Amino acid sequence: MFTFTRAELTSPVQLCDGRWVVSSYADVRAVLADPVTYLPDNALTAVTPVAPAALRALVRARFSLPPTLANNGSDSHAGLRRLVASFFTPARVAAAEPRIRALAMERLGGSDLVRSLAWDLPAIVLMDLLGLEDVDIPTLKRWSTASLEFFWGDITRERQMELVDDVGAFHQWLIKRYEARDGALFCALADAGVSAADSAGLCYFLLIAGQETTTQLLSTALRRALQDRELWERLPLPGVAESFVEDVLRTETPVVTWRRLTAREVVLSGVRVPAGAELVLLLSGKENDPKHLAFGYGRHFCLGAGLARLEAAVVLRTVAEHEPSLRLAGDEPEWLQLLSFRAPRSVTVAR
Ligand code: HEM
Repeated sequence: MFTFTRAELTSPVQLCDGRWVVSSYADVRAVLADPVTYLPDNALTAVTPVAPAALRALVRARFSLPPTLANNGSDSHAGLRRLVASFFTPARVAAAEPRIRALAMERLGGSDLVRSLAWDLPAIVLMDLLGLEDVDIPTLKRWSTASLEFFWGDITRERQMELVDDVGAFHQWLIKRYEARDGALFCALADAGVSAADSAGLCYFLLIAGQETTTQLLSTALRRALQDRELWERLPLPGVAESFVEDVLRTETPVVTWRRLTAREVVLSGVRVPAGAELVLLLSGKENDPKHLAFGYGRHFCLGAGLARLEAAVVLRTVAEHEPSLRLAGDEPEWLQLLSFRAPRSVTVAR
């Protein structure tokens, strides 16, 4: 289990179970800023090697993750990034605010805020922005949570086999949508001459990264905000939710780590790291770090940062405004605990 925390690390660059954990702000930023020395190729590689039986199931589903966005260090990255970025311009994101607020209003009153508020709202907003209609959101969430665990979990072969059908089914659905040009995103990809396999790989990542992470950010932020009564009362005031969200991203971001591969031998904080080494960059910061790297840095900087920030601030503000007396209840929650993703699985409340 990848439970290492900053407190357990004794060196800014430390070898843990075959991976090099890089934890200082300056090193992490320098690595992300240099895509020639530090390749993104391993960004989506399964953390637990895929066992033969699960691999056969993936091959049967024609599953592949060719280099497209996060895992693409080649020249094709810039064009694909421009295409996807056109769906998330600041104007398009800002225009989603009333819809986010309305969805949050409809979801008030639940007893577990992860299920009631954080679960499907980001997926619905993402489908709207990408122009994908008639998507069964519960199925999408099942596929995407299974995929997160399959690729980022420390899991057994048995668990891989339990998850692999959802991974394959998700990918096949994406191929079908592409072939039918069903939705604005798929039309844009096909018009730009992006192949079925590249489109499915790109969308597989985008439809997971574009909503699971925000579900996680909302879960952590709601829990933390409810631990501080004084903050909860101030959240409806202008700007308070925005700066609180930034603080959560700085100290308790859902995407706790991100990976890179060394193209050659390097020295980081005085530690020699060989060529071909897997680096695990800690993105959650220390209290006194000036900025945060929660959305990465440089060429692969998160395309959904503006959307994630807006969704989190609007949802927090809406709940705090309408439910001033909400409080945490129940036992300590279980946590989602994957190499790159961390969040409470429930936020139980009472009124
Ligand atoms: C709290 C929410 C989110 C967090 C913490 C987060 C974090 C990240 C991180 C750490 C990266 C890698 C950056 C790098 O390599 O430098 C990334 C990349 C990416 N994110 Fe996000 N993300 C979030 C939400 C979103 C949303 C809502 C979308 C979609 C709208 C999105 C789309 C992407 C894409 C497409 C990339 C790859 C960009 C590229 O390779 O050019 N993310 N994100």
